Amino acid sequence: TQYTAEINAFSTDHADELEQFRIKFLGTKGIIKDIFDEFKAVSPEEKRTLGKVLNEFKQLAEAKYQSLKDLTEVADTAKDSGLDLTLPGEGFEVGARHPLALVRREIVEIFNKLGFIVAEGPEIEDDWHNFSALNFPEEHPARDMQDTFFIKKGGEKGDIALRTHTSSVQVRMMEAGKPPFRAIMPGRVYRNEAISARAHCFFHQVEGLYVDENVSFADLKQTLFYFVQELYGEGTKVRFRPSYFPFTEPSAEMDISCTICKGAGCQMCKYSGWVEILGCGMVDPNVLENCGIDSKKYSGFAFGMGIERIANLKFEIKDLRLFSENDARFLKQYKTSL
Ligand code: PHE
Repeated sequence: TQYTAEINAFSTDHADELEQFRIKFLGTKGIIKDIFDEFKAVSPEEKRTLGKVLNEFKQLAEAKYQSLKDLTEVADTAKDSGLDLTLPGEGFEVGARHPLALVRREIVEIFNKLGFIVAEGPEIEDDWHNFSALNFPEEHPARDMQDTFFIKKGGEKGDIALRTHTSSVQVRMMEAGKPPFRAIMPGRVYRNEAISARAHCFFHQVEGLYVDENVSFADLKQTLFYFVQELYGEGTKVRFRPSYFPFTEPSAEMDISCTICKGAGCQMCKYSGWVEILGCGMVDPNVLENCGIDSKKYSGFAFGMGIERIANLKFEIKDLRLFSENDARFLKQYKTSL
């Protein structure tokens, strides 16, 4: 036991000290050899119990020697190469979430609380799901309004294009199921616009759809009012202005009181105190019928917003291009928001 304690306490990173240890315990004239010599003289009964103890002791000494040997070898190479192993390591960087991902998650969480689920659909769409089912008449200028990237002419459900909005997911959802529907559709959409600080050829949307019996415009207003209070804080004002979309009737655009200048006037709200954040309206009965839903029994509302716009207001980002340039100096700033 005295030796066990000595072995346990022993430590070194000098090769010569370790060699002394080896000679003392494990050498051909070492302690362990001596003990095993004495062991030969004891009675067979004692051998059984003592043998186990001795073997363990030997293994302990050997294990200690091996582990210290590895250590001294590393220390030796380090000394040879001038490495200082006691210096702290180099530290590594943890990534940050993209600001658009942060805002999308926040939007999704707010609508989840109201019972909206998340629905997704393809980015490459046919004319039916992106336009016709949504009540865009053939050859109607409203189709140009959206600056579509076309991919292929013709096809079973019309021309193939990159979706210009995620309203196409609403159509897919209604075609595939039965009311009630209560879902939001986040996703990337594409429009053929020149890239500048205020426009891009793609951006991200969250659209929403609620279809059931007796859904009214009051439900729409209250839902969006709640959403804005959650997202921008209580006391944020909203106002609705009449607008036009082929797939909703009546249609509106919703403004919120500018979250940056609080109404005092700034560049973001063009000194009006209000910023537009989304389009909305009551789902046009034609759209419901196009998707196989009885428009006499059911009504619904829909809305759609650009995530970039929401993020611009939240983080005071003035140039849309920052979102897609992958500049680490920009992206790093959102680290704390993980
Ligand atoms: N789809 C419209 C757009 O992309 C937004 C919208 C959705 C408006 C739903 C009204 C209702 O601009």
